[in-house]
Amino acid sequence: MTGGCGYIGSHVTRQLSEAGYRVTVIDDLSRGFPGSLLHGERLVEGDIRDSALLDRAFASGKFSAVLHFAASIVVPDSVARPLEYYDNNTLGTLRLLQACQKHQVRQFVFSSTAAVYGEREGGPLTEDSPVAPSNPYGRSKLIDEWILGDVALATALRYVALRYFNVAGADPRARIGQRSVATHLIKVACEAALGKRPEVVIFGTDYRTPDGTGVRDYIHVEDLAGAHLDALGYLEKAGESRTFNCGYGRGYSVKEVLEEVRRQAGDFRIRIGPRRAGDVSQLVADSSALRKTLGWKPKYANLSDIIQHALAFEKTLPR
Ligand code: UFG
Repeated sequence: MTGGCGYIGSHVTRQLSEAGYRVTVIDDLSRGFPGSLLHGERLVEGDIRDSALLDRAFASGKFSAVLHFAASIVVPDSVARPLEYYDNNTLGTLRLLQACQKHQVRQFVFSSTAAVYGEREGGPLTEDSPVAPSNPYGRSKLIDEWILGDVALATALRYVALRYFNVAGADPRARIGQRSVATHLIKVACEAALGKRPEVVIFGTDYRTPDGTGVRDYIHVEDLAGAHLDALGYLEKAGESRTFNCGYGRGYSVKEVLEEVRRQAGDFRIRIGPRRAGDVSQLVADSSALRKTLGWKPKYANLSDIIQHALAFEKTLPR
């Protein structure tokens, strides 16, 4: 697992350990926390662009699969600092795939993103919807998908690329959750509701959506983590390389999200601001392929649970 100490990675690490896998995590701890490894998983501290470090890590065991989470993930940062995103996300994936080839690891689960899709109106996005990323983050991940496709054609590697929609929520027992990157809407709103920040700014109310604010398909991190175990099971049963959308198929606007946080946690200040660079109006997943092919069964497919768990975890963090 790369990035196994991060927000999403730590949930997957935990579920893998609980399912009986033996897990080694590589993490540079730039945004991950070793304390997020709940079952004493082995941690190799370092950067995935460091091929010598990867060599040592791969040589230290016999690995059946790699799950690759380590990446920079904030859309507006990618607009401001594109080279950093291509370096960490694209070069990092390339180095990791080179190590997989060298050490003959042939199953690969890749963290991709809904940001590979661009601005589009109409119904939910299927995996065949046109890709047209609106920001360097999405492009860095789309290039990774293309590289993976080429490698899978040329070698014995098989992969599942999971295109995450908007991941939120936390471990229902509030042991792990989103600690860093306080730019995501639900995290920001929970912080405001708990008095950790003065207000939430709505980035644009002039989108072509029912209430003018951005619409996203929020997926609970526990359900997303489950999709990774399903993906691994699929690859273990010789499944062919595939890409799957990970969302519930239901979009919520920024205003609806803020309303639900207010309902659960009380009032906080909301200000209307301009659009944010790199944002699109709506991203909603058609995830029927994930359900049918991988047998994915979400447990928390509602905004209320997502926000309840995010709030409970936020309360465990220092102010
Ligand atoms: N938003 C606000 N105010 C805020 C934060 C966000 O109005 O303070 C709005 C955004 O404009 C957008 C929506 O809330 O309409 C969601 O924004 P986030 O920052 O929470 O998430 P993004 O949709 O920008 O991006 C996230 C991940 C990406 C992933 C994408 C997939 O950060 O990695 O979801 O949909 F690719």
